[in-house]
Amino acid sequence: LPAKALVQAAANSGLRAVSVRHSSQAPKVALLGAAGGIGQPLGLLLKQDPLVAHLALYDVVNTPGVAADLSHIDSNAKVTAHTGPKELYAAVENADVIVIPAGVPRKPGMTRDDLFNTNAGIVRDLAAVIAKASPKALIAIITNPVNSTVPIASEVLKKAGVYDPKRVFGVTTLDVVRSQAFVAELKRLQSTVRIHTFLCFQGHDASKTVVPVVGGHAGITIIPLLSQVTPSTKFSEEEIAKLTPRIQDAGTEVVNAKAGAGSATLSMALAGARFANALVRGIKGQKNVQCAYVASDAVKGVEYFSTPVELGPNGVEKILGVGKVSAFEQKLIDASVPELNKNIAKGVAFVKGN
Ligand code: NAD
Ligand code: LMR
Repeated sequence: LPAKALVQAAANSGLRAVSVRHSSQAPKVALLGAAGGIGQPLGLLLKQDPLVAHLALYDVVNTPGVAADLSHIDSNAKVTAHTGPKELYAAVENADVIVIPAGVPRKPGMTRDDLFNTNAGIVRDLAAVIAKASPKALIAIITNPVNSTVPIASEVLKKAGVYDPKRVFGVTTLDVVRSQAFVAELKRLQSTVRIHTFLCFQGHDASKTVVPVVGGHAGITIIPLLSQVTPSTKFSEEEIAKLTPRIQDAGTEVVNAKAGAGSATLSMALAGARFANALVRGIKGQKNVQCAYVASDAVKGVEYFSTPVELGPNGVEKILGVGKVSAFEQKLIDASVPELNKNIAKGVAFVKGN
């Protein structure tokens, strides 16, 4: 039913005619940190997403230029620019999905946790406005340290009385994207065979390789489940021992290669757009599964954990859990719990103490 008809039906039936989210008809996506290294290419990809009707760009600087530029692209999404705290409310008001890459990135030698002092306050302040302007939005947090910024946003929403654990996500899609790239690369090389003088590439197509990654988004909390790769793939112990730390340290690989100029932006933009698109599809009733760091009871003794989750109209429809894991993966999961708890407690304390 069109929105008007739903409102009319509610009025006719004597029910309170609550405002009908325009969401399922014409999704609005707000991008906070839109002028940054991730924000700009992510805005570009979201502008091209045929499911996005309105792309609201927010940053503390440079938003008008980015918005003017993107608005000249011949796709349907309407682009609006919002600059500085006074314009934040309008940026997020009535948003269905809010994607947050606002905040500082790492430089070589830093951990993600070293970003806490700057980024914790940024996420807290953005969440406080979202709590008022758009409490039903699905919030996808990219800002590091994700293991702590998700609890921070959640605590702010709890304080405001509008917290819904199904609607707050830490974006771990980049870990999945990388794992899929690395696995496909390894297995493609292994299955390259020489027939006469031709090299034939067989086996893994990166776009069809699926690797679940669970845990969190920093160091040992990033746990690729290589035992669950599809299409079904065999790894030697040596391969697992090499691939796992490569995936865990892939962010640092980019930070070091950029040598002070920031961290992953382009691959993150792709990952962020993929995740935002999945949230929008869910809102539109197209259920789909993604890995994400969410409030979860999937693993005992820790409140937030990334696993595959089913996305639908209300955000997380079902937590699918870690599934059947190898003994090696179980050890990694066990080791991640105290580390995650430390990161979570730090985020919670930051909001409760403020
Ligand atoms: P960047 O410095 O290039 O861009 C950050 C943007 O945020 C800037 O445009 C800045 O003006 C803006 N900003 C700062 N304070 C703001 C505020 N209060 N409100 C709105 N915008 C604000 O950094 P980047 O490379 O885009 O990285 C952004 C964040 O994403 C970093 O914290 C980084 O660690 C994180 N990151 C996460 C992942 C992941 O997988 N989750 C991957 C890559 C990077
Ligand atoms: C990544 O994984 O690339 C991001 O978390 C950025 C970083 O600091 O490594």
